[in-house]
Amino acid sequence: MLDTIEITSKSRVYIGDAGALLAELLPERRVIVISDTGVDCLQHELIAPYDTILVGRGESAKSLAMLDGVYRRLIELGADRTTFILGVGGGVVTDIAGFVASTYMRGVEFGFVTTTLLGAVDASVGGKNGVNIGGYKNMVGTFSQPQFVICDVSLLHTLPDREFRAGLAEVIKTAILGDAELFEMLERGTFEALREDKSLLTDVVTRCVRVKASVVAQDEREAGCRRILNLGHTVAHAIEKESSNYSHGEAVAIGIYYMTRKALEHNLISDVDAKRIFALIERYGFDVELPIERKAMLKAIGGDKKRRGDALHLILPTAIGAVEDREVALDGLENFL
Ligand SMILES: NC(=O)c1ccc[n+]([C@@H]2O[C@H](COP(=O)([O-])OP(=O)(O)OC[C@H]3O[C@@H](n4cnc5c(N)ncnc54)[C@H](O)[C@@H]3O)[C@@H](O)[C@H]2O)c1
Ligand SMILES: [Zn+2]
Repeated sequence: MLDTIEITSKSRVYIGDAGALLAELLPERRVIVISDTGVDCLQHELIAPYDTILVGRGESAKSLAMLDGVYRRLIELGADRTTFILGVGGGVVTDIAGFVASTYMRGVEFGFVTTTLLGAVDASVGGKNGVNIGGYKNMVGTFSQPQFVICDVSLLHTLPDREFRAGLAEVIKTAILGDAELFEMLERGTFEALREDKSLLTDVVTRCVRVKASVVAQDEREAGCRRILNLGHTVAHAIEKESSNYSHGEAVAIGIYYMTRKALEHNLISDVDAKRIFALIERYGFDVELPIERKAMLKAIGGDKKRRGDALHLILPTAIGAVEDREVALDGLENFL
């Protein structure tokens, strides 16, 4: 089955077989692949026909030092403004590849094959990219849409459970903020069923991409409603800054749980809906307790990039399928959280 979802007039997500879609979508020009060493081992056949630049695995690869190496390699390979860059990997790879492509020689065309669940439902979709600086996430980046994103759920089969679960955190986030039916599907489903049932997983991924596409279509540059996609992320970024024990998705699950608790304390959500959110996060096997000192969290949030002037935007669930974007002054943050 092939499903396509429009992100902008020039950017679409294709859900289907990666090999066949690449043959159809890649331009008849020089293609250079950016991937990581883990994906290269697993999907070597997919990227072997192209010159390939491999980055290291994991969040630490999203650095200016890594970018320097990638740009130099592009120059060595003779990449010019007509070169097409194909990012093949998870969110780390697509964030790097998207940033490199939108800055190398002031921008070349690019596309992605997303190989993690987190990448499929979130990171590869929407045109944001970037790298980290000194522990602060995504401090340098651009808004720049890929020509295409290919999402082939059969590639997700090799993901370790931990990575798969991390992607489910963004799935749960998406269900809470914009798809009550997806939330119910997840309530009925199990971790194992999602791992094994390809058509169920395809349905879940497609729903997530549709929600993200509709939000991005309204606010491509995150001046307003796109901020709702940051549900759980303000706390998650603080956790990721203060502790290396949690992946992005794991930190997001803790962040969603925390913000739901705050929403309940501030009477923004019903007891019933809050309990459904708590139960769903627990059902999929996430840690839920804040793993860092509250004081350290507040300090890290003060430096979070979503700060605007002296206020912060906190995203709070208000029902299943709805969230509120609450502006909180920095000096009121401690009280609110
Ligand atoms: N740009 C955005 O809008 C956006 C949105 C959400 C997240 N992100 C970013 O995405 C990143 C996290 O992405 P991620 O969770 O995909 O991490 P990741 O890219 O680091 O991938 C996780 C691990 O899985 C391995 N892997 C990839 N595909 C695999 C496969 N098919 N089988 C087995 N192993 C595989 C990778 O080698 C890596 O070691 C974070 O840096 C986050 O900030 C960006
Ligand atoms: Zn995220």
